[in-house]
Amino acid sequence: MSAQTHEISSNTPAGVPDDLLTWVNGVAELTKPDSIYWCDGSLAERDRLYQEMVDSGTLIKLNSTKRPNSYLARSAPSDVARVEARTFICSQNPEDAGPTNNWADPVEMKDTLAKLFDGSMRGRTLYVVPFSMGPLGGDISKLGIEITDSPYVVVNMRIMTRMGAAALDAIKKGEYWVPAVHSVGYPLRDAEGHDRPDLVWPCSEDKYITHFPETREIWSYGSGYGGNALLGKKCYALRIASVLARDEGWLAEHMLILKITSPKGQVYHLSAAFPSACGKTNLAMLRPTIPGWKVETIGDDIAWMRPGKDGRLYAINPESGFFGVAPGTSTKTNPTALAALDHDTIFTNVALTDDGDIWWEGMTDEPPAHLIDWEGNEWTPDSGRVAAHPNSRFTVRADQASSIAPEWEDPAGVPVDVILFGGRRASNVPLISESYDWEHGVFVGATVSSEQTAAAEGAVGALRRDPFAMLPFCGYNMADYWAHWLKMGKVLGDSAPRIFQVNWFRKSEDGKYLWPGFGDNSRPIEWALRRVAGEVEADDAISGRLPKPGDLNVDGLEISEDELTALFALDSDAWAKEADLTEEYFAQFGRKLPTELTDQLSSLRDRIAKAW
Ligand code: OXD
Ligand code: MN
Repeated sequence: MSAQTHEISSNTPAGVPDDLLTWVNGVAELTKPDSIYWCDGSLAERDRLYQEMVDSGTLIKLNSTKRPNSYLARSAPSDVARVEARTFICSQNPEDAGPTNNWADPVEMKDTLAKLFDGSMRGRTLYVVPFSMGPLGGDISKLGIEITDSPYVVVNMRIMTRMGAAALDAIKKGEYWVPAVHSVGYPLRDAEGHDRPDLVWPCSEDKYITHFPETREIWSYGSGYGGNALLGKKCYALRIASVLARDEGWLAEHMLILKITSPKGQVYHLSAAFPSACGKTNLAMLRPTIPGWKVETIGDDIAWMRPGKDGRLYAINPESGFFGVAPGTSTKTNPTALAALDHDTIFTNVALTDDGDIWWEGMTDEPPAHLIDWEGNEWTPDSGRVAAHPNSRFTVRADQASSIAPEWEDPAGVPVDVILFGGRRASNVPLISESYDWEHGVFVGATVSSEQTAAAEGAVGALRRDPFAMLPFCGYNMADYWAHWLKMGKVLGDSAPRIFQVNWFRKSEDGKYLWPGFGDNSRPIEWALRRVAGEVEADDAISGRLPKPGDLNVDGLEISEDELTALFALDSDAWAKEADLTEEYFAQFGRKLPTELTDQLSSLRDRIAKAW
């Protein structure tokens, strides 16, 4: 049976604009679902979808006493993470995607997608999911519509974005919206009308996560997991939004946002970029170990930032939930996150306890004696394998975290005082240093890297560059992105946030972390804020300005003088090598590399020469 649009049942709301209706009908004609369902975002709708997924086996309802209103999903073992190798930027000109992205020709890709999506929703419901990234109606916020054939995606989008009727109402009023199409790529009926049973986690071996920067469209095929499927997050809020931001004069960044209040009651805001798996969610819910300071959460992953009327940079968190990595989250590492997950949480790929609760590696010192692992198999501590997948996740509303700042939904955003760039560096990069100016800060952001193998002090291991922590998320040429940041510095002028580089991961020669991290990360942050307040001087050094001896607050911390020295040690030889590696890295961007960054490299080399 080949379904035609007119045969497909649909609950189309009144007043849907023609362009939207034409688009939805066009996608339905291509994908041939049994029905079209427009989501309103209501609780009744959510609960109905939860129940349907429990009935079909996609979700397991957790113990209602221990973990009310919470569910566990287990994905297919082949579909457990974002697939960067299958993520494409389809700009007309390959140079506009740049050397750090996978490029594909937009016409050829549309052709490939047309074949893949043809009939891909047979036997399924096509869900139309209207959403707002950022508080509805805010100046920095933007709208989108995701079409998906996955109810799991719908319930996750309801947590991660402002999803439903209010977003659709704004679209009805003519607001701009980005179209995003998603299919798990597992139709339940073939073109000849033969049915096949559904899977608990349907997906396809073939995966395409594609972005069309010129037409601002997203098409994602074959995966039901995380950033591949919840298209508001990495696909829209970073890859497409970075293009919109370039064209409209703002910034779409892979950054958490914090509100910090000093003991004197002075309020600061900080945004911070870290590569994936550097503990961003932990930092976003930091509990300071220094007395008198208060840290509150605005966002844990993405910041949209725009110059305000007063010339300062204002940031919003475009998301409304956290899609955090579960393993390692404990009462020691992140008590706030753990408490937030007490109820109304979707868990994906964690382990199930005998009493219907969840567990993951690192949650408790002692693992339970028996579990069902993330693949649904019996597990005991001597099984010799992990119980939760290392990339297992929780999806939870942001305001379930007790650390959430009252202004997290302020549509105007919060004024940013400080920007942090961090990588995972065993060597070379000090605990904290301040950039000399905005251009130097852009150079620091552009050269963010993590060591692939832990290097001994003074040596530099192979570096994985992750500029601005945007390597997998920048929707256009990375060198043009740097040029955009340089331009924004000129727009912001003296009102620009101050830029700092941090490194929580420096190791001693015998391979031990020198810095305790977690709550103690409040200490270098305190120094940065005292710099902003003009309370402390700093020492000029190779990498930037360093705290003067005694200025970093280490009261109550067990750290030796030698360890402190090692945390800030700058070895000229190692930095000279690092400058050479940076030159090699920059070379791939050819003529697009902004001259300001070449000048910054020369200044770095001058400072190294002076330090010798
Ligand atoms: C994430 C990531 O999941 O950065 O946030 O990979
Ligand atoms: Mn991220």
